Amino acid sequence: MRIDIITVLPELLKSPFEASILKRAIEADLVEVHFHNLRDYTTDNYKSIDDTQFGGGAGMVMMVEPIDKCISALKEQREYDEVIYMTPDGETLKQGIANQLSMHENIIILCGHYKGVDQRVRDQFITREISIGDYVLSGGELGAAVLCDAIIRLIPGVLGNETSALTDSFQDNLLAPPIYTKPREYKGWKVPELLFSGNFPKIEKWREEQAYERTKKLRPDLLDE
Ligand code: ADE
Repeated sequence: MRIDIITVLPELLKSPFEASILKRAIEADLVEVHFHNLRDYTTDNYKSIDDTQFGGGAGMVMMVEPIDKCISALKEQREYDEVIYMTPDGETLKQGIANQLSMHENIIILCGHYKGVDQRVRDQFITREISIGDYVLSGGELGAAVLCDAIIRLIPGVLGNETSALTDSFQDNLLAPPIYTKPREYKGWKVPELLFSGNFPKIEKWREEQAYERTKKLRPDLLDE
């Protein structure tokens, strides 16, 4: 998979890709992540990427030309499955969206700034708009990093244990069950006995029940979906 991220702040975005699972995925060639600085696609001496709103109104708007130049240059080189715009008014990111996107070959992610992008960018290029939650960030970069993390860990081969993404919270609209490791007892706090029984069908059933109970208590909305 290849992800091209268009941003005015590439330095803000790089560090999540330089550690842990994302770093290993890149080193193992399971994913390529490329950063494109929008200012490299400007034509004026000031490298302007934004301007005031037509019709008046507070806040700057990202201009269509540099974005067009950047996206068009990328599209000349390969086909893209999706051109995603990170914005608080997009569809809220859910595990299902990450699952879908992880199956693509090539995606572009455009990070918005200021008031956002000129509507013509959305009309002409954007195939999907994604928000990471109902709050406003100062730019799309942190959202793009969250989206990339959610996608990349699902690419086959990225997680050591192939099944571990399948048992994540949300995969079946359920939260994950409780998990334990050594020691068996700490300060009198015990691990449930059943987990030492070796009765794996029973353990599996217990985990399913726990996941259901936890979801009912903490996120009942997931059970309605
Ligand atoms: N840009 C600003 N706020 C955002 C959000 N909540 N999600 C994605 N991109 C954003």
